[in-house]
Amino acid sequence: MFALTYLVFLAVANAANAATIPTPGRVRTSLNDNWKFSRFTNNPDSLSYNSLKPWLLPQANLFITGTKYPNPSASSPGANIPYVQSSFNDDTWQQVDLPHDWAITGPFGAPGISGGMGRLPTNGIGWYRKTLLATADDISGTKSIFLDVDGAMSYAAVWLNGNLVGGWPWGYASWRLDLTRYLREGNNTLAIRLENAVDNSRWYPGAGIYRNLWLVKVDRMHVAQWGTQVTTPDVSEKEATVKVVVQVENLGGAAREVDVSTRIYAVGDGSGAEAVATIKTVTTAVAAGEKRFVNDSVTVPNPRLWGPPPSQTPHLYLAVTTLSSGSAVIDTYTTRFGIRSITYSPSNGLLINSQRVYVQGTCNHHDQGALGAAYNHRATQRQLQILRDMGANALRTSHNPPAPDLLDLADEMGFLVLDEAFDCWSAGKTANDYHLLYPEWHEADLRAFIRRDRNHPSVIAWSIGNEVQNQESALVAREAIELQSIVHSEDPSRQVTSAMNAATPDHALPATLDIIGLNYQGEYGNYAAFHQKFPDKMIWGSETASCISSRGTYFFPVHSGNNNRYSAVGSSDAAARYISAYELADPGWGDSPDAVFVAQERFQPWVAGEFVWTGFDYLGEPTPWGGQGGSRSSYFGIVDLAGFPKDRFWLYQARWRPEKAMVHLLPHWTWPERVGDVTPVHVFSGAEEVEVWVNGVSQGRRKKSGKGVYRFRWDEVKYQAGEVVAVGYKDGKEWGRDVKKTAGKAAALAVSVDRAVIDGDGRDLAYVRVEVVDDKGTMVPRTNNTVEFSVAGPGKLVATDNGDPTDMTAFPSASRRAFSGLALGIVKAEKGAKGKITVTVRGDGLIREGEVVVTAQ
Ligand code: GAL
Repeated sequence: MFALTYLVFLAVANAANAATIPTPGRVRTSLNDNWKFSRFTNNPDSLSYNSLKPWLLPQANLFITGTKYPNPSASSPGANIPYVQSSFNDDTWQQVDLPHDWAITGPFGAPGISGGMGRLPTNGIGWYRKTLLATADDISGTKSIFLDVDGAMSYAAVWLNGNLVGGWPWGYASWRLDLTRYLREGNNTLAIRLENAVDNSRWYPGAGIYRNLWLVKVDRMHVAQWGTQVTTPDVSEKEATVKVVVQVENLGGAAREVDVSTRIYAVGDGSGAEAVATIKTVTTAVAAGEKRFVNDSVTVPNPRLWGPPPSQTPHLYLAVTTLSSGSAVIDTYTTRFGIRSITYSPSNGLLINSQRVYVQGTCNHHDQGALGAAYNHRATQRQLQILRDMGANALRTSHNPPAPDLLDLADEMGFLVLDEAFDCWSAGKTANDYHLLYPEWHEADLRAFIRRDRNHPSVIAWSIGNEVQNQESALVAREAIELQSIVHSEDPSRQVTSAMNAATPDHALPATLDIIGLNYQGEYGNYAAFHQKFPDKMIWGSETASCISSRGTYFFPVHSGNNNRYSAVGSSDAAARYISAYELADPGWGDSPDAVFVAQERFQPWVAGEFVWTGFDYLGEPTPWGGQGGSRSSYFGIVDLAGFPKDRFWLYQARWRPEKAMVHLLPHWTWPERVGDVTPVHVFSGAEEVEVWVNGVSQGRRKKSGKGVYRFRWDEVKYQAGEVVAVGYKDGKEWGRDVKKTAGKAAALAVSVDRAVIDGDGRDLAYVRVEVVDDKGTMVPRTNNTVEFSVAGPGKLVATDNGDPTDMTAFPSASRRAFSGLALGIVKAEKGAKGKITVTVRGDGLIREGEVVVTAQ
């Protein structure tokens, strides 16, 4: 036992990631590599969800409390389909690694796919095939072999050696199938069928096995799927109670006794090889085919609490649960968790560990821009790092369960997560969205989601819905009551909300919810009415802003107020489909960031904060140009689709990280056609005062002009070529500055990379930024030169982008038009590669090429 403890300690002390901890008795391996794939736009197999449904529904039985779905007696469909046979020759199919999104390579303009869904070919039927090797031990009768799917879009059905094993229709669900029964020694043929309808989403959903796949091998007696629940009901700096519930499952043919014990380790704590607490061993007998809960708690002295930076630190712990019999370890199951308390205060907002934390959050969809929905750890980490740099401390996983790994990152980085389940309930928003599944699957989907995510300290509340239809209706209130009680039964430790844009305080819906989450209507003044009606509920802006802009494009005249409709004169160029980056435009609902800040301030301290729509631009929903001939991706992001911050980024940074010495001025200063014309200069900064000069002539030193003003503005500045300088002051001293210079002709490419060293695992990414510059190195802000990426050495160009919502060049293209001076190349190493990867970028015309070297190791 000592050896195990020591091994576990070493791993815990050295790694932040629970995936690297040794787990005797349990083997979990990635099934991501080496798949064969084919997509069909005409049904190649005559199957449909309806014909498969009777065999899929019993999968939900583990997650429903009422009548179970019967196992059909008829023989299962699909056995005669060539793709499920080992004899089928798939040589002509595409070779792919997972996570895989079949639609992201385009082209744009897919028939039948709306602008709202990103104009990419998500629809159709996709078949995936892989050979699985099983050992004699795997099929000896003592093992359970599970397929764990983090997410497959959508209507998945799985065959092993020609036998339908099961599946799960909802594309955002994580699910498990037991392969044991059909597994045989040697080669096994695993085949997965997916099907996506058109009109199944309001945004780009992605298509394919777009999240990780795992093979789990355990003894038939094991900790069940998501079989632990760790909570910290009492937390102080002196001590914390850690409560651990373990669900032990016996899939063997006979009753067995097993010893269950759990040790708690501090992750990354180099203080000693000992567990910080141990839950006493309990012996339990589990009948064949049954489950037993074992539950106990322990005190952790002097706990290192989990909380969001900068005021707190996200310390993590690991619960290592061991099932054993005598000296033999049967299973080891790890649960990473945090020790922290949450208080939902109606009068003071959100408190973490009794300290008020104002929610500075963003909503985000699940795509990763040019990589699509295919989950990538580094891409997600980069997004979170950019948001963190801005000062964000919270995320809303709009409007569906995220990839599990995103929550691991959030735990490690200390983000507060509003974990959201659904965009609709029984009434849909598009013809083929979740409302089709809701009646039969909502309970299973919701319970599975909560069980999967409830041990993450980052999850601070659950959202059961977003702007569901008919918020005034009695039916919706009944649905909310049912959904919320499902959540409470799976997790009594957190509160529940649903994001409401249309409900009023008098409707039944808000009365049913723990937290009042308002979309936009808070800014219309409705926080007060809800607060008055529900004085015992916490309130926040579950969705705010929806400001729209395209990075680096500015239009005139600039609106003198805080907020303006995108269609107003000076807000946008409808023909070009760009919206002004003065960051004042809204789509007809929502507001500029400034106007949201006004509403938030007005209701402090009781409004707990906001979740901005959105942190990043996303594929689809290119409001206001979602129609025919429109754009491909959204304008809502604070950061564009390529990950380049729009000007708004610094407006949020000024408010959310006021201590950061930062001055950001806009617009760019290359306006040959505007000489002598009014060209307002706006400055985003946490400074007390800012002075602006144009070619050395002061335009005045200004304070923010009063309460409710979040930007410094010089609306009367007349343009002259040269330079504009803004200097910020605090306590009368210079605190930061920004300069924009008039650029000459494009002459060179300035190429840089976010990380010079990446893992040579074929998954890690280097993001290469290309700036078109003049001969003095000044960025040329209005260029649309095409740049061409090439990669030498053991690497590969994955995709390119520029953050331009109107650009219909497919993402894998090596050639990309720069947008407002910038382009992006995403590069990875070949699998197993080591060495130098040289990325060269060439421009058209007389532009000098640029180059950057990335080392794979
Ligand atoms: C909200 C909705 C979001 C998105 C947004 C665009 O009403 O919840 O999903 O559509 O509008 O402004």
